[in-house]
This record gives sequence, C-alpha cells and structure tokens, in this order.
Amino acid sequence: MYVVKSPLSDENLKTVSEALQGALADLVDLALVAKQIHWNVVGPRFRSVHLQLDEVVALARKHSDTVAERAAALGVSPDGRAATVAVGSGIGVTPEGWVDDSTAVSTMVDALGAVIARMRERVTSTEEPDPVSQDILIAITGDLEKQHWMFQAENG
Ligand SMILES: [Fe+2]
Repeated sequence: MYVVKSPLSDENLKTVSEALQGALADLVDLALVAKQIHWNVVGPRFRSVHLQLDEVVALARKHSDTVAERAAALGVSPDGRAATVAVGSGIGVTPEGWVDDSTAVSTMVDALGAVIARMRERVTSTEEPDPVSQDILIAITGDLEKQHWMFQAENG
C-alpha cells in the first residue's frame, strides 16, 4: 500500500530508506541499552553515570522519531518493532544484570562508537540521493559524537 508519494526516484529512495531504517533500528536500540544500563549501574560514580544515561535515552528517542517521520515523509513505512530492531541494530551484546560504573561507561563507549560508525556511512550514502535526509543524519551524528566524547572522558 502506497499512500505517500515520494519526491525521490526509486533508486535514490532505496538508498535513503535503508539509511533511515537502519538509523531507526540503531537509535531505538540505543535508547533501550541506555535505559538498561541506567537501571543496572552500581558503584561510586552511580549518580553521574545514571543521570548521563538518561540524556542518551532522551536524545535517542527524539532522534528515532525524527528519522522515522522523515522516512514516512518520503513514503516509506518506518519499522520500529522490537523484532525488527533486534535484527537491524548494530549495537553489540549488552551485559546482563548489575553493571559496575566503569563497565557501564565502556559499554556506552562501544555502543555509541558502533552507532556513530554506521551513521557516518549513512551520511555518505545519502549525500547525493537526498541531502535533506543527510542533514538530519549529520545532526544526529553530531549529538552522538558529543555523548561518545563524554563517556570516553569518564573512563579517561
Ligand atoms: Fe530513571
């Protein structure tokens, strides 16, 4: 069923929809991972790590909405279902149970690093097909890289 007509050619739309759908899976999973660690972190740095993780959750949720709605605006149905996210996310395994603060921080460094690498590929792939989507992906990558810096500094 096609309700929304895309302004892009079929070829460009395929590239851009893959980028946006991949970004959606990564961002939904990032919000879940950050909440999991937010609830399970223990240790002397509990308070600062616990609070910073909610900044990541808020950022990931906001940006997941932006990429999903950009897909919809291009006539592509966004898929944020749990099963789709589980298959599509580029984030590795999240530790089970309580997590000490250093492990919590390194888990976030790894998760953000994985998502950022994929986001930068999407920035490149969308440059010609759709600079409007690329602009969204660039802004998201900038926010993720800021968080990546801060978590790396925590374990510095
Ligand atoms: Fe909370």
